[in-house]
Amino acid sequence: MTLGLVGARGYTGAEILKLVQDHPHLELSYASSRELAGQAIAQPDSGISLPGEYEHLDPADVAQRGVDICVLALPNGLSEPYVLAIEKARPETIIVDLSADHRFDKNWYYALPELTRNMAAGQTRISNPGCYATAMQLALAPLRPLLQGPAHCTGVSGYSGAGTKPSEKNDPDVLRENLLPYAPSGHMHEGEVSHQLGIKLRFMPHVASFFRGISMTVCAELSEPVSNAQLSEIYNKAYGNEPLVKLQEEIPNVRDNANLHHATVGGWTAGKNDQYAVVYVTLDNLLKGAATQAIQNINIACGFDELEGIPHG
Ligand SMILES: NC(=O)c1ccc[n+]([C@@H]2O[C@H](COP(=O)([O-])OP(=O)(O)OC[C@H]3O[C@@H](n4cnc5c(N)ncnc54)[C@H](OP(=O)(O)O)[C@@H]3O)[C@@H](O)[C@H]2O)c1
Repeated sequence: MTLGLVGARGYTGAEILKLVQDHPHLELSYASSRELAGQAIAQPDSGISLPGEYEHLDPADVAQRGVDICVLALPNGLSEPYVLAIEKARPETIIVDLSADHRFDKNWYYALPELTRNMAAGQTRISNPGCYATAMQLALAPLRPLLQGPAHCTGVSGYSGAGTKPSEKNDPDVLRENLLPYAPSGHMHEGEVSHQLGIKLRFMPHVASFFRGISMTVCAELSEPVSNAQLSEIYNKAYGNEPLVKLQEEIPNVRDNANLHHATVGGWTAGKNDQYAVVYVTLDNLLKGAATQAIQNINIACGFDELEGIPHG
């Protein structure tokens, strides 16, 4: 299957390129970037050895280049002209959007495979959930029948989560010896998880000075007491057979999950009087929080093995 990538210079775009180059059934047709246009896609020390050059393709060019799969790895709010142009020229194209633009769109499939793959059949408009939302949903979905009141989710992301465009969230001077809280209420991912799981939650994001990875600490009030053993059973039942969700009794560390394709759920602990639970999730924001999840979704959409081209085990 041929694949085109728009937003190829970005952090998530680069990870998509690496996964595509090792995928047995995907062939890169184009990698679009305004800034890198004319440069070789294969750059020293990038881990990318694909042939060809980056190209600057506008929506009309992208539509005209007709591919089986188009991946949009653009900042939020930029996908629409590309989607409209592709839909006009070649509506059967599988479009995978890494941005948040279609996460609330009922005409798009919200694709977090471990939770929604039963709805994947025949879907060609794929909204790929991001890192924070994936972590929160993996923690909270198995607890859903027991939740009472809003769950509290404290997320800490590496600064690659803020993308390549300079901002205070990826400014080394701001982050040095620091932890930067932001968006204390109403963060878009709060609404996203609430919308997807039909639950209430509070989400408090932070950025730290490490490059990649997120740590999510979830504290959930429960309607009935649970023990640590029951929590272990709940998470094992939900994810025991999921190759890209590792379970561990210990609290997971960000650095142990960096550059790896799975999420880790662990450290589940029943709180005082056993009426609340704390659970931790780590994942690599650029992989299971973005590119790996996109490849999982492409594999499902194309009828390949879901893990084709994804190192795991
Ligand atoms: N970073 C993460 O951890 C993460 C995780 C999950 C989801 N996401 C989502 O994935 C998307 C990409 O994130 P990222 O971190 O990879 O971003 P990024 O590093 O900032 O890269 C953005 C890409 O979009 C291109 N671009 C920027 N403005 C453009 C414009 N006006 N027209 C056309 N191309 C434009 C840039 O290339 P040129 O400027 O060279 O064209 C670049 O390739 C975002 O929507 C983000 O929310 C990110």
